Order: sequence, then structure tokens, then C-alpha cells
Amino acid sequence: MCGIVAYIGNKDAYPIIINGLKRLEYRGYDSAGVALLDDDGDLNIYKRQGKVSNLEDFIQHSNKSGHVGIGHTRWATHGEANHVNAHPHFCTAGDIAVIHNGIIENYNTLKSELLNRGYHFNSETDTEVLVHLFDDVRTKTGLPLEECVRIALNEVIGAYAIVVLSKNDPNKLIVAKLSSPMVIGYGEDNNEYYVASDGSPLVEHTRKVTYIEDGQMAVLEKGKPLQLKLIVDNSEQPTYVDELKYKLEELEKGGFEHFMLKEIFEQPRAIFDSVRGRTNLKKHSISLGGVEEYKNAFKEAKRLIFVACGTSWHSALIAEYLIEELARIPVEVEYASEFRYRNPVIAEGDIVVAISQSGETADTKAALELAKAKGALTYGICNVVGSAISRMTDAGSYTHAGPEIGVASTKAFTTQVAILTLMAMQLADIRGTISKSKLNELISEFDVIPSKIEKILLQNDDIKEIAKDFTESSNFLYLGRGFNFPVALEGALKLKEISYIHAEGYPAAEMKHGPIALIDENMPVLVIAPNVAHYEKVVSNVEEVKTRKGNLIAIVTEGDKEISKISNYTIEVPETIEILTPLLTVIPLQLLSYHIAVMRGCNVDQPRNLAKSVTVE
Ligand code: G6P
Repeated sequence: MCGIVAYIGNKDAYPIIINGLKRLEYRGYDSAGVALLDDDGDLNIYKRQGKVSNLEDFIQHSNKSGHVGIGHTRWATHGEANHVNAHPHFCTAGDIAVIHNGIIENYNTLKSELLNRGYHFNSETDTEVLVHLFDDVRTKTGLPLEECVRIALNEVIGAYAIVVLSKNDPNKLIVAKLSSPMVIGYGEDNNEYYVASDGSPLVEHTRKVTYIEDGQMAVLEKGKPLQLKLIVDNSEQPTYVDELKYKLEELEKGGFEHFMLKEIFEQPRAIFDSVRGRTNLKKHSISLGGVEEYKNAFKEAKRLIFVACGTSWHSALIAEYLIEELARIPVEVEYASEFRYRNPVIAEGDIVVAISQSGETADTKAALELAKAKGALTYGICNVVGSAISRMTDAGSYTHAGPEIGVASTKAFTTQVAILTLMAMQLADIRGTISKSKLNELISEFDVIPSKIEKILLQNDDIKEIAKDFTESSNFLYLGRGFNFPVALEGALKLKEISYIHAEGYPAAEMKHGPIALIDENMPVLVIAPNVAHYEKVVSNVEEVKTRKGNLIAIVTEGDKEISKISNYTIEVPETIEILTPLLTVIPLQLLSYHIAVMRGCNVDQPRNLAKSVTVE
């Protein structure tokens, strides 16, 4: 959370920074700010509460000139979302400015020491201690700023990606990183550098980048090659140059009203890309490279422990059903935030699998670190290529969904489920718990899942009509059984995230143990009821809702007669094999949430208080 962008070179810094911040707004939109150093040596700092567009309007007529600058979009942690707490923060003399993504955990101690030494604080943020600390070391030592920053950072506990700009060093930017992400882009030969939290602001300027590692700092100086050092001891570090793989059109709305809708409609293509090259009907095989590499470990595995947060945790729940059903390996699913602090038992033969769209989520990373410390083999399922989790795990699989910009996850979820399904099939094959004919049947059906999703998407207008009747609802209940219980959880999460309607997901049969008390004519109940195992049981659950006058929306298999008769609204999905049903049943739930939220006037791409990648705990 929080997005940072910086530029140094011969071009105007402002347009590069402001457009970059718009790309990073998914990381937070509580406030935005820029600091620009103009050619007269003045450091102009502008900040505004709210979105980047507020900042843009606010400084429309201000001096925005300069060829070096830094910018920030904030997801508030310490200090409310107002323009004083917005970044950049600056030192008392106003000559050093800093932007920061992360949390300084010992900021209270540092702040007390600085207050005792006479420093004055403007904001309530943890970040402001950094800039006064840099100033303090500079006053005490008289060393060059980069050395002061390095020395000061050795006193800091927490997570950070920072960029420092000083009036006295107009040709330099100093960047440093611990836990939060940071990428540097190379422009014109040693004369131009770009910095951002991820590659999306850089891609229209350069594809040549270096991902800074934890504990490293870089000095970007006009006319000089990038200098990379270790914060702890100033030792020189080698730089590795990577290539950004983003396609520019993936970062645009492409004619859709919102990124979320675009991403919902991209799912047939995204799932196709996820699965491509990983299934082979002729050889009756599935090949996820990471599983193949650790084939023996997976063959002998005693238990798989999944760690994840949010939507990715729902994918993990589906993995539990899939892997236990097909491969007969015991599976546990943990909230990463709980797992990391509860001294879990990790025994020989346990494999810990992290699922994360961003590959950056702080709790998931910490859960993995714990698993590694306890000696477990770790596996990562991530969307963002080169992300922290993909680099820290022993092996893994990318979901290849392409950039997901809408804060509410859609294509990232279905591609995770696609990979987890392949993983379950491959594990079953390795462990001999599935016949070749069953494997082939699944592979063939997998091939037609994208076209079945296309068919569901054709019902978009019908779903929009249904949505009209629920814009005033204040509660929603989502029910599902088996593989579709996690889909009920995911449907409820989508609705509450973007429409702010309270929604709960429940296993259909559990409804009798509490939620049934809530059902009356004002309670919309969405039931996921494809024609698979336990269909009749779901029919009974639906009858129980109907008897209590619940307003029923049912997701059913094409041609369904029974539930369609009882429910007020019906949405059909094509028939498929039971274990693949989540890939279809979740689509109408995404569309329904989307339309309800849009009709309620909510900002579906940037729901209040949320951020797409949660890099703080
Ligand atoms: C945030 C996002 C969710 C996401 C969760 C986990 O809460 O708003 O959409 O599911 O983080 O993120 P990850 O990147 O680890 O999948």
C-alpha cells in the first residue's frame, strides 16, 4: 500500500510523476503529493487529501517545473487522511523531502529522541521521523546525504521503500528498500532514472529495470551509473537488469467503464493463458514446472498448508477441496496473519503454499518466512512476476492473469483456482490417485472452460437487470456447499468490498445454525446450486429459505427445473464437472456485485478504505 514514483533526468518530471501516481492509485488513494525541484533550486511541495486528481486540480496553476521530483499516493496507517499527513514529508529547513511506503515500527522511540533534540513535527505520521533523522545525522556528521540516509536507516525498525530528494543535491535521488517493493527504470544512458513501487508507471518510458532487494539502497545520479549498496555496511552490490513484461494496453480500461468490468470480461483469456502449455492431452499429463521440480517432495508430502489473505484465502479453501478429493493429501488452510503469530506445528513432510495475487502481502510474506525458518519447503502461487513471494519461495507457479488493477480481485481469483486445479490434478497423477481416463476427462473439460465463461458473460445485461432490484438492500446471505462454499464466501466479499452492503457467506447447511434467524422478505439470499453432488440437499436448503420468505437468487446449471421453480431470480451456468464449477459459478457473482455497486454510485475500482496490495500488517 502507498505508491511511490520518482524521476530524475532531462524531461519535465511532473507529468511523468502524476501519470505514474494514477497507475499506482490501486495502492491507496487517501491523499497524494509531489515534491519538484525547479531549475532555480526551489523545492516545491504540493499535497492534497483524496485522489491524485484532487492534487492535479489543486496545483493546476502552480509552478510544476523541474527535471527531478518525487510523488506519493497514500493508504493511511499512522495519522488520518488529510493533506498534512500526506507525503512528501520534509525537514525543518525544508531542503530534504521524503516519500515512504511501509511502516516505521519504532517511530515512537525515534520521535521522542528527536523531540528531545528540538525537532518539530508537523504531521502524525511515522514517515516524518525519517526525514528529521536524516537531517539529524547530517547536522551531527556533516557527511554527504546518502551516507546520512544510510546511517539513519540502520536505526530504523520496520518496512520501507523510500525516495529522498534534497535541494542541495539537485542531481541525485536516494532510494532504499526493506520489505516494501521498489523498482528502478533506466532511461537515457546514465542520465535518466525512474523509480516506482511497481513497473506499471515505468512501462511507457522504459522496459529496462532493476528490482532493488531488501536491505539495499541506490544512489541515482545524473551522468553516473546506478550505484547499489548495502544499507548495513555500505558495501557495493551487483546490479541485475530485468525486462518489464507489461503490455501497455493491459494497464488501460480498453473501452470498459471500469477496470473491474474489463477484468471480469478478461477471464476467458486469462484462464486460457494460465493453463496454456501446462496440460497435455496426448501425454495424459499436467506439468506445473515447480511441482515437477519438487516431484519427490510432493509425492512424499504428509500435508500441504496453504497461507493467504482475502480473496487468495478463498482460492486456498477451494484448493483444500480439490487436493483432498483428487490427490488425497491432507490440506490445511490458514489466514497468513494468524499463522505467523500462533507458533504453528510444521513437521517433516509439510509443504507450505502461499497464494498471493500481488506477491507482496506483508502477512503472507511473514507466514512464509516462518515456514522457511521451521524448515518447510515453500511454494508460491503469484500473479505478479518477480514479486517478493515469487522470489522467496523454493518453487512456484505464476497465474499469468496479467495486471489486475481493480481493487476487488476477479481474474486473479479464477486464475488462482485454475492453477490450483491443475496442481491437484498433477499431484493426483504423481501419487497415483487418479486414473488416466479421469485425468483426460478433466483436461478436456478444462479446455472448454474459457468458452463456458464467455457464455456466462453474455448474460451480463440480464444480471444487470437483477441487480436493479437489490440496490437498496442492506444485507445479503450467500450459500453454497462443497466446492461452492468458498465461492459463497468470495461472492459475499465482492459485494461488501465494492457496494458496502453487509454480506455473509455460509455453507448452505450451516444456515440452520444461526443465519436462518435473519431470513425474512427483506433478506436477499443467493444460493449457488449447480447440479452436482448434494444438489438435492441444496434444494432442501433453498426450500427452507423460501418458507421463511427469503428473496432468492439462484445460480443453477443450464436447464435446471427444481430450484428455478422456487427462486425469485435464476442465473444459469453451463454444465461442467463438479470440481470445475467454481470457475463458472463465481462469474455471475462478480457481475452482480459490480452492477449493484455501480448503481449505488460506488467507486468500484477504488473502494473506500481498501488497497490492492497490503504491504503492512
Ligand atoms: C487486499 C486486496 C484483496 C486481496 C488481498 C490479498 O485485501 O484488496 O483483493 O485478495 O489483499 O492480496 P494478495 O495480493 O496477497 O492476493
